[in-house]
Order: sequence, then structure tokens, then C-alpha cells
Amino acid sequence: MQNLFFLCLTIITCLSVFDSNNFIAQAVTSWSEIATLKAFKSSINPSSIKPGSCLASWNFTIDPCSFPRRTYFTCGLTCTPDSTHINQITLDPVGYTGTLTPLISKLTNLITLDLSENSFFGPIPSSLYSLPNLQTLTLRSNSFSGSIPPTIKSLISLQSLDLSHNSLSGSLPISLNYLSNLRRIDLSFNKLNGSIPELPPNLSELAIKANSLSGPLQKSTFQKANKLAVLELSENSLYGKLEPWLFQLPSLQQVDLANNRFNGIEIWKPANGRSSDLVAIDLGFNTIQGYAPANLSAYPTLSSLSIRYNLLRGTIPLEYGESKTLKRLFLDGNFLTGKPPAGLLVSGNIFSGSLGNNCLVGCPASSQLCKPAQKPSSVCKKAYNGKPST
Ligand SMILES: *[C@@H]1O[C@H](CO)[C@@H](O)[C@H](O)[C@H]1NC(C)=O
Ligand SMILES: *[C@@H]1O[C@H](CO)[C@@H](O)[C@H](O)[C@H]1NC(C)=O
Ligand SMILES: *[C@@H]1O[C@H](CO)[C@@H](O)[C@H](O)[C@H]1NC(C)=O
Ligand SMILES: *[C@@H]1O[C@H](CO)[C@@H](O)[C@H](O)[C@H]1NC(C)=O
Repeated sequence: MQNLFFLCLTIITCLSVFDSNNFIAQAVTSWSEIATLKAFKSSINPSSIKPGSCLASWNFTIDPCSFPRRTYFTCGLTCTPDSTHINQITLDPVGYTGTLTPLISKLTNLITLDLSENSFFGPIPSSLYSLPNLQTLTLRSNSFSGSIPPTIKSLISLQSLDLSHNSLSGSLPISLNYLSNLRRIDLSFNKLNGSIPELPPNLSELAIKANSLSGPLQKSTFQKANKLAVLELSENSLYGKLEPWLFQLPSLQQVDLANNRFNGIEIWKPANGRSSDLVAIDLGFNTIQGYAPANLSAYPTLSSLSIRYNLLRGTIPLEYGESKTLKRLFLDGNFLTGKPPAGLLVSGNIFSGSLGNNCLVGCPASSQLCKPAQKPSSVCKKAYNGKPST
């Protein structure tokens, strides 16, 4: 044994000899990474480090990557298999408060950084955006402020970015489209403004709900977004007309654009020779004028549609009543006229929805779908310039 140890000291592959012989390897976490973990812990308010929490177990009298970790470093981080580098920091959500140290960029092997549901504040250090192996960045539900810099494009391995429920401001960097591995972006519940830049090609989920985004949705933003399945942009200040290309994005399944200022819509049938996976569309609480788009009924899997509380006029397209897939339909709070299509009123066709608060006639009060009551006829007459609304 002593001979082997001596031999090892002289041979650079010493560690792998130990490993392959199943000895417990002496941990050798890189010195600078230990220093970084110390800085990470000391930038967190000690009074927020509760007994029994992960950070309470970070005691630097032992090596963070040494095994077994029964007493100290019991959770919050993981190391590379050779115990030399930190590859993951996932804190427990126990209300740690403090800032994130800029030294975090020294953990160059980091694959996951997850500090969600704590009370970190201050800017996200710009050095963080230089981590070349980072795949998952989750800072959800903290109080980070400041903006997202153009240097985010250096996170070349990034697959999932969740900065939702913080206080981030400013506009989204144009360089976002360089992140070719990015699948998921959630920036909901921040204070981001400006328009949406061009999206990267592998993105399947984009959620920027409840911010201050403005401007129309541009075709150029989505030109590479062939894998986009979920688009969640509700509660912003987006405006303009929704154009046919949007609903024809080839992988689109769910669109939520409710609570914006869109004022028009044009929908074409699914593009020639292609099908569509569109399942749910929510356009409620905008100012969309014109007729309810009949072409939506040509989308073969559409099961949930809301265009409630807009400025739609004219009759409900007969095609809606013939749809075999539509289970949820909210058209309430518009100025729709005429008789609702009979197919909609057949019990069992639509599971939930409302045609109420319109200018419809012959919507039987006994039908759940017809609640609440229609608008007073004076309101409807006024909306149709005094002409009868039927
Ligand atoms: C860290 O570990 C040492 C050695 O086990 C112990 O004496 C010390 O009290 C520990 N410190 C904390 C803060 O738990
Ligand atoms: C999408 O991601 C895959 C897997 O990470 C990668 O191989 C591919 O190059 C990416 N696509 C584009 C267009 O960058
Ligand atoms: C976005 O907000 C910042 C302040 O956070 C402001 O300086 C900037 O003008 C705003 N940009 C737009 C496009 O509204
Ligand atoms: C319905 O879609 C077709 C193309 O699929 C288009 O030519 C037509 O204008 C659309 N109708 C409406 C009312 O937008």
C-alpha cells in the first residue's frame, strides 16, 4: 500500500489508479473553486441561513467534494465524478437572502445553477454569462434586478433559462438568437420592455407573461422558430394585427396572447399540405375588431379557444358549431349578433365556455353557455349605429 502510494505521487495518473482500484479517492476540489464557494456563502446574509438548510451544512473545514458527505456539504451542490470541480449548485428554497457573487464565473464546470424561490437581490453578475458549460439557469422567484446583457450569447450550452418572478428591466438582447441549444425561456413576471428580438432555432417554449413588452409581433422574430410549441405572452402591451403566419408556425400548440392591445386578426387555414398541432388559443381581453375567424375551425386539433372581451362583431361562424374537437369556447364580452350555431348548443359538445354578454338572439337562457345575459339592446343598437343588431 505504501509503495503504491509512493508510486502514485510520482505518476500523474495517480487518481485514476486509485479510482480503478476502488480506493476512496482523497478529494481534491480545485482551490479556486473552494474559494468561490466560500465567497458564494459569505455573500448571503448569515441570519437567513437556517439550521438544517443546505448552506448551513457548507463547513469548509472539510473538502466540499470529499465523500461520504454525511455531516457537511449534505446538499446544495454536486461535483464532477473525479471530485475536482463543482458541476451543480441547486439551493433549497428556504429564503436565503443576499447577492450572487461575481466569482461564480470561476466555476467553469457548472452545468446547473438553480437558486429558485429565495430572496437574492441585486444584479445578476455579468460574469455569470461567461460560463461555457451552463445548461440550466434557474433564478426563478427571487428579487434580482438590472437588465439581461447582450453577453448572454456566451452561454453557448444553455438549454433552459428561467428568470421568472424577479424585477428585471430593460429590453431583451438581440443576441438571444445565438443560443442555438436553448429550448425553454421563462422570463414571466418581470419588468422587461421593448419588443421581442429574433428567437433562436431550437426554442420550443417562450414565456414572457406579465411584463411591459410592446410593439407588434414581427414575422422576423419567429423566422427560425420552427420548433416553437408554447407561446405565452399574456399581460403585456403588445399591439397591432395578428397575422396569418403566426398561427401557421409549424410546431405551435399553445398560444396565449390575452390581456394585450392587439386590435385585429387574420387567420388562414393550416398551410397547404401541412397539418397543425394547435390545441389552445387565448386572445381574451384585447381590442380585436372584425369578425370571429371562421378559418380556425380548419385546425384539426383545436380544443380550447378564447376571444372573450374583445370588439368582435357579426355572427358566430357556423363552422364553430361543426367542430368535433372544440371543448372550451369563450366568446363572451363582444358584440356578436344573430343566432348561435345550433351545434354549439347541443349538450355535451362544449364542456365549458360562454357566449354571454354579446348581442345574440335566441341563446336559450337555460343553456349554461348563454350565461351571463346578453347586452342590453340599447348598447347593441348603439354599437351597430342604430341598425337592428340581428
Ligand atoms: C465546522 O466543522 C468543524 C469540525 O468538525 C467544527 O468544529 C465547527 O464547529 C463547524 N462549524 C460550523 C459552523 O458548524
Ligand atoms: C438544436 O439542438 C441540437 C441538440 O443540442 C443540436 O444538435 C442542433 O445543432 C441544434 N439546432 C440548431 C439549428 O442549432
Ligand atoms: C425600457 O425601460 C427603460 C428603463 O428600465 C427605459 O430607459 C427605456 O427607455 C425603456 N424602453 C422602451 C422601449 O420602452
Ligand atoms: C381563410 O384562409 C384562406 C387561406 O387558407 C384565405 O385565403 C382566406 O382569406 C381566409 N379567410 C379569412 C376570412 O381570413
